[in-house]
Amino acid sequence: MTNPSWGPIAGHDLQPLARLFADDPERLSRLSLTLGGMYFDWSKTPLDEALLGKFEALAEARNFTAAREALFTGGIVNPSEGRPAAHVAERGSGDTEANALAATGHARMRALVDAIEAEAFGDVTGVLHIGIGGSALGPDLVIDALGRDGARYDVRILSNIDGQAFEDAVAGLDPATTIIAAVSKTFTTIETLTNLSAALGWLVEAGVEDPFGRVIAITAAPDMAVEYGIDQTRILPFGEGVGGRYSLWSTVGFSIALALGWPAFEELLEGAAEIDRHFRFSAPRANAPLMAAFADLTATHVLGCQTRATFAYDERLRLLPSYLQQLEMESNGKSVTADGAPVSGMTAPVTWGGVGTDAQHAVFQLLHQGKVTVPVEFVTCIEQEDGLDDTHHRQLLLNAFAQGAALMTGKASDDGARAYPGNRPSSTILLDRLDPRTLGALLAFYEHRTFANAVLLGINPFDQYGVELGKQMAKAIDDPAERAKFDPSTRALIERAGL
Ligand code: F6P
Repeated sequence: MTNPSWGPIAGHDLQPLARLFADDPERLSRLSLTLGGMYFDWSKTPLDEALLGKFEALAEARNFTAAREALFTGGIVNPSEGRPAAHVAERGSGDTEANALAATGHARMRALVDAIEAEAFGDVTGVLHIGIGGSALGPDLVIDALGRDGARYDVRILSNIDGQAFEDAVAGLDPATTIIAAVSKTFTTIETLTNLSAALGWLVEAGVEDPFGRVIAITAAPDMAVEYGIDQTRILPFGEGVGGRYSLWSTVGFSIALALGWPAFEELLEGAAEIDRHFRFSAPRANAPLMAAFADLTATHVLGCQTRATFAYDERLRLLPSYLQQLEMESNGKSVTADGAPVSGMTAPVTWGGVGTDAQHAVFQLLHQGKVTVPVEFVTCIEQEDGLDDTHHRQLLLNAFAQGAALMTGKASDDGARAYPGNRPSSTILLDRLDPRTLGALLAFYEHRTFANAVLLGINPFDQYGVELGKQMAKAIDDPAERAKFDPSTRALIERAGL
């Protein structure tokens, strides 16, 4: 693969944001987009015409168009694992064969949802969804965001191996009327298997007959689930090409479909499919994920930012930052190119964030006056859904917009402690409303932005070897012979903890 130089971009002479607005009356319309019930505004980032041109040249040098086409046509976009990435097929946007496989998975899933609704499993009131990482974060976010108006089942998401998490998750659930959804792509993940075993024990203790009969396994490794003791009829498979952090659209979304109903799950997929079409067919400057990636790379490669923060000014999206952390950092937190050569310059920055307005009273001090520049993304929603008068919602939105303005404008003062440097970049995503379709669109936008960043960086976003060493060592540390090989500090910790 060619390795284009970042020189022209890294050396770009950035103008202050205020000057960029003053010099170009069309700036806002050039750097904003309306799409899929969302309005994107990158005008408060330092992107300018010349820089956009350089990014377009970089995209060309990286064969962006071909890479994007490969994503939608089953090309090997995950070379280290020799696989395509099949998440787009889960919304019907992949190649014919992958779309058909995904549709088969969805049909099985729907049949099981229908069966549960028809009480084939008796009275069901709760769902204990056990999974971790991509097998939990997406469903957790979607159910938390959209299930507030009374989800149809009490869905609890259990991920951590900490027994406290197990106790919290089952508190108030009736074992006799709870279905266990064990979600693991590999069906080998220690946290998930340990929690599944505890859940089976919880059912046994409560006198539930046939505890295994209450378990639905959702996995890309059905043989492993069968070996575990789950009957074939209660296994919902999904394709090996669906990466964990991209998997909520597949049968991994089983708990979403149960909580919100099948029509809502379909709407989620349709919203994502709309963004698939947009990403695949739009020209660079009209392409939301690509424009967002240009803004991201301006922050990392021109401004030298090491972190990026997303603040959801909507309580329903409070889990968005955690979801984005896995999506972006597990995808693009790499140091080598797709060919295995060292990457020069930054790859993924640290993704963090929180909820507005809470964050304003905690971390915004640093954003306004700290010595590091953190590009901020505001995500908020025009339509109010809480049942109060509009006082809260109005203030919520006005605060989000005021923060972006304050970061950019700053304020001069002779008193350094009261001076705000300003010229700090931010972008905004304004949703018309938060419904399944728009949330599907938003999450697909984030997926494609992550992919666009990866292509421009020349890295593979679909593997995650970085997590393997820790897993291996967590196993070895439990073996007395292996343990002796650990460093003195670690051995002392084990000894002190009495392990
Ligand atoms: O450890 C990282 C990881 O492999 C993630 O990529 C994945 O989402 C998570 O663990 C869970 O894996 P599984 O679905 O196989 O249990």
